[in-house]
Amino acid sequence: MTRLTRLPAWAALEAERQALAGFHLRTAFAADPGRYARFERRLEAGDALLVADFSKHRLEARTLDRLVELADACGLRERIDAMFAGTRINITENRAVLHVALRDLSGRPRQLDGQDVTADVAAVRARQVDLAERIRDSRWRGHTGARITDVVNLGIGGSDLGPQMMTLALAPHHDGPRTWFVSNVDPEHLRSTLARLDPASTLFIVASKTFTTIETMTNARAARDWLLHGLNDPAATAKHFVALSTNAKDVAAFGIAPDNMLPFWDWVGGRYSLWSAIGLPIAIAVGGARFTQMLAGAHAMDEHFRTAPFASNLPVLMALIGLWYVNFWNAGSVSIAPYSQHLSRFAAHLQQLDMESNGKRVNLEGEIVDHATGPVIWGEPGTNGQHAYFQLLQQGPALIPLDFIVAALPVHAEDDAQHRILVANCLAQSATLAVGKTADEAFAEMRAAGKSDADARKLAAHREFPGNRPSTTLLVRRFDPFTMGMLLALYEHKVFAQGAIWNVNSFDQWGVELGKQIATSLQGVLADPQANAETVSQGIVEAWREARQRS
Ligand code: F6P
Repeated sequence: MTRLTRLPAWAALEAERQALAGFHLRTAFAADPGRYARFERRLEAGDALLVADFSKHRLEARTLDRLVELADACGLRERIDAMFAGTRINITENRAVLHVALRDLSGRPRQLDGQDVTADVAAVRARQVDLAERIRDSRWRGHTGARITDVVNLGIGGSDLGPQMMTLALAPHHDGPRTWFVSNVDPEHLRSTLARLDPASTLFIVASKTFTTIETMTNARAARDWLLHGLNDPAATAKHFVALSTNAKDVAAFGIAPDNMLPFWDWVGGRYSLWSAIGLPIAIAVGGARFTQMLAGAHAMDEHFRTAPFASNLPVLMALIGLWYVNFWNAGSVSIAPYSQHLSRFAAHLQQLDMESNGKRVNLEGEIVDHATGPVIWGEPGTNGQHAYFQLLQQGPALIPLDFIVAALPVHAEDDAQHRILVANCLAQSATLAVGKTADEAFAEMRAAGKSDADARKLAAHREFPGNRPSTTLLVRRFDPFTMGMLLALYEHKVFAQGAIWNVNSFDQWGVELGKQIATSLQGVLADPQANAETVSQGIVEAWREARQRS
């Protein structure tokens, strides 16, 4: 057994799970009209508001106490302090984890290895905002003197998902050049994007922490060929390429001048990098002021996470409740349901944030864990998801907790009536998941609809909803830049707190590396008709060769 599962607090939660065997949300709400109030938590910052409804979970007040005891027993407070202090908590890469420094606008000095991180961050942020504003107001022009109308971000993983998700989320505030995100090494992604663009008015951002990622560098070279072919002058790269990276040497070798590169640092993890220079597309889309509001919103959540007692700490409670299902109720996945079309990439970003961070099988001591770690994260915006997979959530046999995310106000005041339909749907799903419908109720409905006793009995089984399906509802005032910063930081810290309790390194991703190596070796095999692949791939390589012969 690992230290975690030997803890008395772990055993207490197993006992708690058994004590709640007969628990049902329908009866819990019926028995206690004050249940919502007891399990609502909120964070207010300026005019931003984030309300978390934790009442629709399989827990009683004492369950939360037990969960908080587990967090205490795991030293979560010390782990939080260590992250904020810049301790090298990413032990397999010997790195600090300081994305929180990127959104601390207080100017408070922060030392790391004798270097004032705050000063470095402020200097790069000033350059980033300046660059974004010059592109937005056309002081920066293309090689021919044309205005930049389109900005293409070439990046993948954290160098794509975060900025893409946030740029989309802030679409109502988008008043800069159009932004495009090309990530896939499938040539169609770049080709189909470029087909809609004019080289004279297009700026490429090569976004890569390492500046070695095969997808990004392949697309960057292809984009450069397209540009130079279109503008017919090798000097054109200077006005059409900027880089966001930690690797100044390779950026220079690619032909991008130091002035056109925004640096960041090894203590910024890829999936936490949209707060850094990697957020340039966001700043270009919505402007420096709104980008800064987004940082301020994240900082408000950072301060809450750092200082609030666990019993009222939103990221900690999200983490503990998530872990409650993963470890004690065998739930293998969490569905994310943002009721906002602009949050259509939110779940995709959370997939990397959560699954790349906590999809780990060994703990910090290198022991194989004897408990589940990161769940599968998935989801689509509501109401679309309701008409696709909510059937399984409502009546399938698996237990899949959900996060509903919804804004009180519409983006445009004149859409208020339609927005109420959206909100009603969101609330209806969490209510029906929790309460369900009994076979007796279904039977009575069928009888009232004129079915015979026998038919009503048969149909009732299909129309019964078991209920007791848990969900959190996160209600915000509106999805503005500040609130989006808060919301994303909430999830980042949830993932951190879970990783801390599971005692895994949430900041490395070795599971991605092996596939990269094998892909590189298979590239060589596919280029040479005589070359043999490893046994496991040889059959499919031959089938690929044969398939290409057919016409
Ligand atoms: O897929 C692994 C990964 O290392 C991610 O963690 C990272 O966000 C992505 O690749 C892109 O890396 P880079 O920014 O170095 O191109």
